[in-house]
Amino acid sequence: MTAHSRATPFPDHGFLDALTRCAARDRYASINEISAHDGHRERCLISAAGWTLDSSRNLLSSDSLETLLAYAEASGVLEEREALFDGRSLNHTENRAVLHTLLRTVVPEPALVEDHQHVDQTLSRMAQWVERVHTGDHTGHTGGRITDIINIGIGGSDLGPRMVVEALTPFHRTDVRVHFCANIDPADLDRLLRAASPASTLFVVCSKTLSTEETLFNAQRARQWLLDGGVPERKLQQHFLAVSSNLEAAAALGIPADNVLPMWDWVGGRFSLWSAIGWSIAFAVGMAGFRELLAGAAEMDGHFRRAPAAENMPLRLSLQEIWYVNFMQAQVQAVIPYHQHLMHLPAFLQQLSMESNGKCVNHLGDPLGYATAPVLWGDIGTNGQHSFHQLLHQGTVLCPIDFVLFTASDQPAQAEGKRRLLANGISQARALMLGRSYAESRQSLRARGFSAEDSDALAPHLVIPGNRPCNTLVADRLTPATLGALLALYEHKTFCSGRLWQINSFDQYGVELGKSMGAEIYAALSEEGQEFDPASNDVIERSRG
Ligand code: F6P
Repeated sequence: MTAHSRATPFPDHGFLDALTRCAARDRYASINEISAHDGHRERCLISAAGWTLDSSRNLLSSDSLETLLAYAEASGVLEEREALFDGRSLNHTENRAVLHTLLRTVVPEPALVEDHQHVDQTLSRMAQWVERVHTGDHTGHTGGRITDIINIGIGGSDLGPRMVVEALTPFHRTDVRVHFCANIDPADLDRLLRAASPASTLFVVCSKTLSTEETLFNAQRARQWLLDGGVPERKLQQHFLAVSSNLEAAAALGIPADNVLPMWDWVGGRFSLWSAIGWSIAFAVGMAGFRELLAGAAEMDGHFRRAPAAENMPLRLSLQEIWYVNFMQAQVQAVIPYHQHLMHLPAFLQQLSMESNGKCVNHLGDPLGYATAPVLWGDIGTNGQHSFHQLLHQGTVLCPIDFVLFTASDQPAQAEGKRRLLANGISQARALMLGRSYAESRQSLRARGFSAEDSDALAPHLVIPGNRPCNTLVADRLTPATLGALLALYEHKTFCSGRLWQINSFDQYGVELGKSMGAEIYAALSEEGQEFDPASNDVIERSRG
């Protein structure tokens, strides 16, 4: 454990010494031997909601796992999970309940019936709009069909829907194309507008607060583009929808109440793709597909809620996170999906994990003497194999990896490629564990015709240490349901880690300072006078030419 002075110690529930001893031993153990240990793999295989987690290839022996599970029991984390489902004010710094699970619940808790009715009503309104656009009942201002939908939003109002829409590409309807614009850099919207036509484009402005600079700026630019493209002001409403918990702000943007769907304070931005913020998902795959996504997530919710600690997939992932971060000083974690359409999954998970658990005080506001969320990163396989996998195999960083793999292919024409993709994913996980010894390296060089002398010199560079930890998460196919379950799995992992670290996973005050400084600097870019630090002043000066 890394301890900072006068800071709150790790909430170990009496298990610090035992866990520290276990970690000191496992750090130098052989993953291959751990995984071959009697009964170990069985303890590390969990199936739920279409997914199987195999966590047997980690620097975590059966003994240590038992100790971690005992620590989890003592922490009460599983008792606390009920707070996610019964609407307690978990986000105490903002005095808000955390109820994103209600968005995918079929039968709500009695106390939540009223909120659930609002969710149902919103889903019905969402469905009506989706139907009207898909059938051509709702048209652009000239009476022609809507062919392009542009989601304007950022953070949770972009990353989730963008990732899901891309992930479900094979399920897309052919009558509309869905696009995403997040960045305040005009290049982002311009790239989309170049290929769109005002008469057939519908913008969905997504912002929980409707006070986000990027989103308001882009929405204004979109409005101007429509006006410049011949849409009369009185018909602009045919081209704008909005989702927000700030209905007045939507009205101020000129978007009529009928075109606005609500979201609620009890849904955090990074947990909001299940709400009307996921409207663009429903436009892309239809309402039935959106409901399948919710159902898949609900299935994982049920697993999380009912499974005991040892068989609880989200909790097991979280315990591993605590293990590596707090007992092995790992500061990074990679997620590598072997699926082209999961290209945005790492970015989505970055916000989920790092905005939730990137905190340095506990829920009481006391500074922490232990590490919290690691840097989460990743990219799709096989692409990463030809760039950063070098570091994973031979670098000096301890980086536990989640490999996300699929065993089947829906399209016969893709079967061969999917087999190759899967073979790559399986072999990367295996190579990371086994590595290649000096003797094997030397022998392979000799077999390739190198002289004995050259083989001796080159062999150390070919040695791959191995013993690098990873999980595999395997499903047969990427469908709306398995995707929903995967995302709920990571949501619940994030929740468990936050509770074990005793932090508030549901606020994000860290993003505010930079935002407020941005307004002052923006003013200084056009008006001389205000002074900042020398490095900032220098760039401001240069921008003035
Ligand atoms: O700046 C961070 C943040 O508040 C995220 O938490 C949120 O997902 C994003 O901005 C967008 O916020 P909004 O949906 O209110 O525009």
